[in-house]
Amino acid sequence: MARLLPIASGKGGVGKSVIAANLGLALARSGRTVVLVDLDLGGSNLHTCLGIRNRHAGIGALVWKRERSLSDLLVETGYDRLWLVPGDGLLPGTANIEWFAKKRILKDLESLPADFVVLDLGAGSSYNVVDFFLASSEGLVVIRPEITSVLNAYAFLKTVAFRALSRSFPDRSPGRAAVNEFAAVKNEGSGLSFLDFARELSAGGPGAATALERLAALRPRAVMNMGREPGDAELGYRLRDISAKNLGISVEFAGYLLEDPAVGASVGARRPLLDLDPASPFARGISAVASRLAAAPAGAALALDDPDGGLERLIDEAGGEA
Ligand SMILES: Nc1ncnc2c1ncn2[C@@H]1O[C@H](COP(=O)(O)OP(=O)(O)O)[C@@H](O)[C@H]1O
Ligand SMILES: [Mg+2]
Repeated sequence: MARLLPIASGKGGVGKSVIAANLGLALARSGRTVVLVDLDLGGSNLHTCLGIRNRHAGIGALVWKRERSLSDLLVETGYDRLWLVPGDGLLPGTANIEWFAKKRILKDLESLPADFVVLDLGAGSSYNVVDFFLASSEGLVVIRPEITSVLNAYAFLKTVAFRALSRSFPDRSPGRAAVNEFAAVKNEGSGLSFLDFARELSAGGPGAATALERLAALRPRAVMNMGREPGDAELGYRLRDISAKNLGISVEFAGYLLEDPAVGASVGARRPLLDLDPASPFARGISAVASRLAAAPAGAALALDDPDGGLERLIDEAGGEA
């Protein structure tokens, strides 16, 4: 089974697509077979980062025409072992993919003949995004070293937590109704915290206990992009701390990527920076993320052997490379 690596963020413009393209290439260059999937429905541009024209059928063909299978949509990228499933410019970005179509796509994604399947997700917290993010316990959340970006990422993880909890109960079950009701009330600001609520729920039977286990098994990995200075660590730790305290989710750090003018130039040149200039600060940071992810068994903790989550060490390393 292919290992899924969804890439999400609270808001757009943080570098998801650039990271997806370069991370995919880094993994492919390390000998893995990789499929990049553009799931940013309505805003697909992963093909641009790879210099591929948007004239191929994409994910939209799967959503609307059910006879096609995902492997029919694979496009060569010109790089060994790296394939692309393009997005679909024709698909309205706001369309919610029906649950059964989503499930089928997920099953197809996992059975692709690849070591890694990297999912470039749209921004925000729609169910399309959240459900694909939950396809793996080790999704990446991209943040910038700004408080707004941290809070957007936290809001995204909160939606992920609610969705994971709700989906642990069968449709129309009292458990699911309780979660949805709590989510609605919570949005208006109630006293009970999410974690307290989840614990209360867990007293309610075996389904709820599974729900808590599912939450605890989530291991989202933050990648800080467009980093500038050592003080950035503070903001990363803020995301980790509020996610642990309020949601019971432990966020790990998978990488720290420096702001690098060569990134914009590479997008303009329609070639991943890792290909254009592997020695650039951003490309080196990407290579480090790729080897860190590949070294950790699927779903296992990243071996950062640092009780603080290792962000400071990642920043140190990036500084030394710049
Ligand atoms: N580390 C970086 N340094 C400088 N510019 C970057 C960096 N990462 C991304 N960018 C720029 O940010 C913009 C948005 O990136 P993109 O990958 O399209 O974001 P998203 O997919 O999250 O919307 C692009 O113009 C890209 O060149
Ligand atoms: Mg994008």
